[in-house]
Amino acid sequence: MSSTHHLHFTIILVLFFSTKLPCFVNTSIPQQLLKGFSSIPLSSSKSFQPLLIDPTANFSLGFLRHNQYDLKLAVVHTPSSQPLWIANPTRSASWADTTRIFFNGSLVLWDPQKGVTWSTATYGERVVLLNTSNLQVQKQNKATPLWESFHFPTNTLVQDQNFTSNMSLLSSNALYSLRLGDTFMGLYANYGEEKGSLLSKRLLYWKHTALEAKATIVESEGPIYARVSTKGYIGMYQTSSKPVDVQKFNSFQQTSSFLLLRLELDGNLKGYYWDSTKSSWLLNYQAITETCELPNPCGSYGLCTPGQSSCSCLDNRARFEPGGCFIQNGNEDGELCAGDGIAGENGYRILRRNGVEPPHKALLEQVTTSSLEECEGLCEKNCSCWGALYSNGTGFCYVLDYPIGTMLGTGDESKVGYFKVRKGARKRNRVGVIFGIVVGVIFGTVVVGVGICAVRWKRMKKVNGKEEEEEEENWAGPGPYKNLGSASFRSIEMCSGSGVQ
Ligand SMILES: *[C@@H]1O[C@H](CO)[C@@H](O)[C@H](O)[C@H]1NC(C)=O
Ligand SMILES: *[C@@H]1O[C@H](CO)[C@@H](O)[C@H](O)[C@H]1NC(C)=O
Ligand SMILES: *[C@@H]1O[C@H](CO)[C@@H](O)[C@H](O)[C@H]1NC(C)=O
Ligand SMILES: *[C@@H]1O[C@H](CO)[C@@H](O)[C@H](O)[C@H]1NC(C)=O
Ligand SMILES: *[C@@H]1O[C@H](CO)[C@@H](O)[C@H](O)[C@H]1NC(C)=O
Ligand SMILES: *[C@@H]1O[C@H](CO)[C@@H](O)[C@H](O)[C@H]1NC(C)=O
Ligand SMILES: *[C@@H]1O[C@H](CO)[C@@H](O)[C@H](O)[C@H]1NC(C)=O
Ligand SMILES: *[C@@H]1O[C@H](CO)[C@@H](O)[C@H](O)[C@H]1NC(C)=O
Repeated sequence: MSSTHHLHFTIILVLFFSTKLPCFVNTSIPQQLLKGFSSIPLSSSKSFQPLLIDPTANFSLGFLRHNQYDLKLAVVHTPSSQPLWIANPTRSASWADTTRIFFNGSLVLWDPQKGVTWSTATYGERVVLLNTSNLQVQKQNKATPLWESFHFPTNTLVQDQNFTSNMSLLSSNALYSLRLGDTFMGLYANYGEEKGSLLSKRLLYWKHTALEAKATIVESEGPIYARVSTKGYIGMYQTSSKPVDVQKFNSFQQTSSFLLLRLELDGNLKGYYWDSTKSSWLLNYQAITETCELPNPCGSYGLCTPGQSSCSCLDNRARFEPGGCFIQNGNEDGELCAGDGIAGENGYRILRRNGVEPPHKALLEQVTTSSLEECEGLCEKNCSCWGALYSNGTGFCYVLDYPIGTMLGTGDESKVGYFKVRKGARKRNRVGVIFGIVVGVIFGTVVVGVGICAVRWKRMKKVNGKEEEEEEENWAGPGPYKNLGSASFRSIEMCSGSGVQ
């Protein structure tokens, strides 16, 4: 009798623990890969197919499904499926049984159409995933790895990962990057870089200079590096273990679980911590807290006015749409007159607007001119100039040598902007505006009319839906003051089989 009880108890215990165990723990997923390892993606894997796990099973290397048919090799945080590192983020393989990953000394991702899409180019003996999420190719019995993913961060830094001056974080739309300078860390907007253009430029839009409160930077002692400390801050360091600068997270000096820092699609840099009781990532830090200080919150030729809750357009006659106020016909990078090679007014028209100033002007170079005309003249005949902003009060002239993004609205009407708009750039939804006015006039106060408008408007939204999705990829996910918290950080249960962002 007591033995039956015992058995019952054991069964209950087993049931209890088996339901408590996270379902991703599959004892057959190895903790190291040896030479000869090879694997292919399975069509049955919905979102993530693990290949290798770390000793705590918190992290996993595997195939991540992207846009249904694309495959990325990624290290994910298993409970949330959140990618922490991606092999070659700019080039994905196809999710097909002809795609192969193998380890022959190098860890290689191979696709018959594209060839080797990624390789560690090493002569190693095994691949392991450390309990820090660092993926390493090692020689047997050698402490220093031949290759490690921590040296090639993508858009994320995890706690204790060193970020050095020859690394960068790149947002997954490739528009923004985080880099270290001699004495600061900065966020940059990249122009033309992803296309490998010779005209590629970087524009600094956020800068945090080391305060040097606990240790000072000595020029001869080499570059600084940064690290997210488990104590809840981003530290910048030089040679001493004392930081030369500390940017505190909300959880400063609290013991919170895993921390990470991520460069988001909108160009903001955000910190999160993993709350295992809520099974979600909670926002812990953001570099930019004011929407108008983001690099391009209202898209191209947009206007962001601090204190107002929505975006508008530099051109009064255009209506704001997510993605910006003009549809550029591709080629928005590079020089304004590169298309036809003719400098002059043929390629563009002029747009002027009072009460605007450039964003992040403290980080821009300016010249002093004696008049608005002189300031505009600096831009007018120069192919690489897209616009000029003049402040009558100070005489400062800002010449913009990159495509016009979002400008700042100011109450000061003596601040004037001059912008070149490529000819052929269509005003967004001009037709939509006219349509709206006509409908408004016809149905005026009639309640029925309002109803019809609403239906039509909804349909228009639907029709525009697809285009908007594409815009999201092209522009920095600008939109009317998006929710800064959750936007692109969905945590998804891996076991539920739902797609990964
Ligand atoms: C565990 O992995 C093996 C081989 O990779 C697979 O056959 C099996 O179905 C997996 N089990 C679970 C519960 O996922
Ligand atoms: C591993 O495979 C890659 C791709 O086929 C090849 O380029 C490389 O030379 C191989 N490495 C070794 C050590 O055989
Ligand atoms: C991670 O591994 C190191 C040694 O490899 C060990 O000292 C540490 O306790 C481990 N941490 C966790 C959370 O398992
Ligand atoms: C980061 O750098 C520090 C100081 O150089 C070093 O002690 C530590 O091991 C490094 N961490 C990693 C994960 O490489
Ligand atoms: C980055 O710099 C460190 C020294 O600061 C060096 O050891 C490392 O090889 C460099 N990495 C790359 C990819 O250049
Ligand atoms: C890692 O796993 C342990 C249990 O194995 C858990 O307590 C901890 O919260 C996990 N950490 C993360 C970052 O998921
Ligand atoms: C055109 O503008 C760029 C950027 O402001 C500047 O570097 C260049 O010298 C200008 N060219 C001429 C001919 O003024
Ligand atoms: C610009 O400043 C001058 C004097 O500095 C003044 O006479 C002129 O009215 C101002 N123009 C505007 C548009 O404010």
